[in-house]
Amino acid sequence: MPGRFLVTGGAGFIGSSIAEALLARGDRVTVLDDFSTGREANLSALKGDLEVVRGDVSSADDVARALRDVHAVFHEAAIPSVVRSVAEPEVADRTNVHGTICVLENARRAGVKRVVFAASAAAYGDEPTLPKREDMTTHPLSPYAVAKIASEHYMRVYASLHGMQTLSLRYFNVFGGRQDPKSEYAAAIPRFVAALKSGAQPTIFGDGEQTRDFCHVSDVVEANLAAMRCDSARGQAVNIVRGEITMVNALVQMLSRILKASVLPKHEAERPGDIRHSCADITLARTLLSWSPRVLVEEGLKETVAGFGAHA
Ligand SMILES: NC(=O)c1ccc[n+]([C@@H]2O[C@H](COP(=O)([O-])OP(=O)(O)OC[C@H]3O[C@@H](n4cnc5c(N)ncnc54)[C@H](O)[C@@H]3O)[C@@H](O)[C@H]2O)c1
Repeated sequence: MPGRFLVTGGAGFIGSSIAEALLARGDRVTVLDDFSTGREANLSALKGDLEVVRGDVSSADDVARALRDVHAVFHEAAIPSVVRSVAEPEVADRTNVHGTICVLENARRAGVKRVVFAASAAAYGDEPTLPKREDMTTHPLSPYAVAKIASEHYMRVYASLHGMQTLSLRYFNVFGGRQDPKSEYAAAIPRFVAALKSGAQPTIFGDGEQTRDFCHVSDVVEANLAAMRCDSARGQAVNIVRGEITMVNALVQMLSRILKASVLPKHEAERPGDIRHSCADITLARTLLSWSPRVLVEEGLKETVAGFGAHA
């Protein structure tokens, strides 16, 4: 029987969803998390052989402790906020870059060969060409994006130097019921749901005609499991998203329909640094990982609304 999977950031939105899927298929899981944005409630309902290590992903001691009996790592831990990375770049760097080296180096020392990393579409920045392909030049606009790109390079270097099987999955806009609407850095969908549920007007920054490429968290989990199985993992970066555009106005309309809400959104000034359009080419994910997204945006929104608040 193989060892355990380590999920760093496993108390968070995506990490706990990966842990849940692993446990559901009978795998053993260790979660390493400092619970800075992750929540006990994301783990308390999980059933199976789950060990939780409360610690810091940028501490070699904590990571080495969490790697005990582990054979593969899903590295999700990060300060996931662009805004915070701008306000506190050194803090973000410590977790988001040093944390990655710490995971890779301690994995190498422990003889762990496979690491799948949570990278980000932030790597593309405001490069206007659409759809985004992995071979495009990266264009980071924040310390968060710099850290994600640096981590991708470390994934590649540990594959070429040490023969590790690593992959970086570039997530775009991931959504699902477990996302925290109360977080200071909450993403748009949980904020829209929270507003519509309470009868308040959701706030759209700009005219709402900007577009985003979304992906339900269950598809992101499947992509991680596929990445872990991939025989030709050599540190490549792979877009993980639906590969289709949704206008923000249309998104709010879908949510209003699902929630039977009649309140209209209010529009505020566009936020500096917000990109206008985002959409990915997912050919590489289809060919390298044999993965395709399954959950349509509207279906995923129904699950999100149903799960909303259930994990608070
Ligand atoms: N949600 C998205 O749309 C999205 C998009 C692109 C990339 N990502 C990346 O996916 C990963 C998971 O994001 P999420 O949306 O689940 O966010 P999240 O905040 O729910 O999860 C991040 C987890 O990392 C933990 N963490 C933070 N600093 C830590 C540290 N120093 N030591 C140990 N644990 C630490 C947090 O407590 C939290 O549980 C992150 O790396 C994020 O950058 C997310």
